Amino acid sequence: MASVDLINVEKAFGELNVIKGVSVSMKDGEFVVLVGPSGCGKSTLLRMICGLEEVTGGDVRIGAKRVNDLQPKDRDIAMVFQSYALYPHMTVAENMGFSMKLRGIDRRIIDEKVHAAAEMLNLTGLVDRYPRQLSGGQRQRVAMGRAMVRDPEVFLFDEPLSNLDAKMRVQMRSEIKELHQRLGTTIVYVTHDQVEAMTLADKIVVMRDGVVEQIGAPLELYDSPSNLFVAGFIGSPAMNFIKGRAEFRTGDPVLRLESSAEIRLPPLPASFDGRELVLGIRPEHLQISESGTPVQVVVVEPMGSETQVKFSLGETDVVGLFHTRFEGVRGERVHIAIPQERIHIFDAESESRVQTAN
Ligand SMILES: Nc1ncnc2c1ncn2[C@@H]1O[C@H](COP(=O)(O)OP(=O)(O)OP(=O)(O)O)[C@@H](O)[C@H]1O
Ligand SMILES: [Mg+2]
Repeated sequence: MASVDLINVEKAFGELNVIKGVSVSMKDGEFVVLVGPSGCGKSTLLRMICGLEEVTGGDVRIGAKRVNDLQPKDRDIAMVFQSYALYPHMTVAENMGFSMKLRGIDRRIIDEKVHAAAEMLNLTGLVDRYPRQLSGGQRQRVAMGRAMVRDPEVFLFDEPLSNLDAKMRVQMRSEIKELHQRLGTTIVYVTHDQVEAMTLADKIVVMRDGVVEQIGAPLELYDSPSNLFVAGFIGSPAMNFIKGRAEFRTGDPVLRLESSAEIRLPPLPASFDGRELVLGIRPEHLQISESGTPVQVVVVEPMGSETQVKFSLGETDVVGLFHTRFEGVRGERVHIAIPQERIHIFDAESESRVQTAN
């Protein structure tokens, strides 16, 4: 096992700067998830860690060692790709043992390791099959087994579940988490699915456009997103954003919306009077109340255990997620309460989080 450190890492393809100075330290045994929209540089970063892509600037360290100039095979890393890349003409067992065979490892040791990995991955009955005779999830497990038999210091996963259907994804997700808990190996895992990131990670790295927006434990990012991008990216359904101007007329600050409606804000320094702000509130924190902010029901989506409702609040739509049944219908006027202690505030211009007393 080993730690992985990225120190001000940069990558340019010709004139195009794709990774613009990324620093992340990943502890030994940690499950780190890189998440961000398509094209933000997740795969490129992963490929630089394993040596498939050269680093243009900065350092990659594995353990205490700088590996910038090491070949992939000398980095003691195993990568599982999105397209499992199994050899079609080899059985499951041969696929898993192939890298050891190439290295001239003793047949008996190969068999032992393949057997142990197959057992851990529930593939024991399938070792003589060919990839075409397997389901997507089974193929995915073979690809993991192939990585596991190498006993690497670090596992890299690049969107390993994206070819699976929704149900299989959820199942494999928990299998990967369990596997990590058993093996204790450092994992760097790329996904653009924030639910996968939240459920798997010890630490999430949110990226956008080649830079890191925030690093933290899943619930840290959920509770205290440092800017509008992270706030909107983490959490599903996404956080509601309501724009307005801070007003301190009667002491306690309110957010004055364009529609002239107002929402009470948590305590803020008086210097915020008149500032353009964005109020963030998660759908699960909205409440239906007798008094409060008047809104109109737009769409009701019952899901059984919960109900998602879209309301219009002046020119903005806001979504609420309720664990009780919702009886309202489209067009109906109701009131919502926005609990002050659940409010996130961002500066409209810088998009950064504004610290409140909460
Ligand atoms: N070999 C290359 N030459 C030129 N540009 C590249 C190359 N590889 C990647 N890029 C560019 O670098 C950027 C980051 O790509 P990357 O594959 O790392 O994104 P990603 O975050 O993994 O996206 P996705 O979620 O779609 O897989 C993209 O704009 C991409 O077009
Ligand atoms: Mg990618």
